[in-house]
Amino acid sequence: MTDQAMAPGTPAEAPRIGVLISGRGSNLQALIDAIARGQLKARIAVVISNRPAAGGLARAEAAGIETLVLDHRAFASRDAFDRAVAMALLERRVSLVCLAGFMRLVGTPLLDAFPNAILNIHPSLLPAFPGVDAQGQALEHGVCFSGATVHLVTRDLDAGPIVRQAVVPVEPGDTVETLSARILVEEHRLYPLAVQTVLDGGWSVTGRRFVPAHQRPGTSR
Ligand code: GRF
Repeated sequence: MTDQAMAPGTPAEAPRIGVLISGRGSNLQALIDAIARGQLKARIAVVISNRPAAGGLARAEAAGIETLVLDHRAFASRDAFDRAVAMALLERRVSLVCLAGFMRLVGTPLLDAFPNAILNIHPSLLPAFPGVDAQGQALEHGVCFSGATVHLVTRDLDAGPIVRQAVVPVEPGDTVETLSARILVEEHRLYPLAVQTVLDGGWSVTGRRFVPAHQRPGTSR
């Protein structure tokens, strides 16, 4: 296996992240590309898919990243699947987990193994339109703006502290496809930025809020 493409000067001890996918993996690709151009100072230690046919697996392989399929249907319970995922990530010394189109609820074993260290990207301006078909929900409600949100994963679906958001307009005549495509462009820009913010540290969580390093008391902009 070739070594993962990394920008010149990226230290070998760059933080190790694990990416969980279920599908095409375009956000995974955005992370791979951001690392390759030196924007994101990290190394993807493993890409794990719960679906053997996920297109994102080929993207990881093409970048020389280890892949692992853990098919949730092969596990006796949700917790057993979560434990296996957590174990695989811990074995590879991952410090941050990025969900990128991972279509499984994250349960206690995984949350406990990575406290405040699991990120998700969602195609709406949370807390509006959590869950599936966020773009369809936005159209149904007739909102003028939607977007993308990167948040810390907690027990509650799509409800964790918001790390970063991007806004897109909803245009007259939009369909789920056209709105999704417009949001996806922003997702690909947003996710690497949010991952770097979290890796940089210095932030805290206060109640529901993610407080970035520069907004903490005693720090100046
Ligand atoms: C993205 O829209 C992401 O926000 C959502 O699932 C989709 C995954 O797309 N959670 P991809 O697999 O990264 O292309």
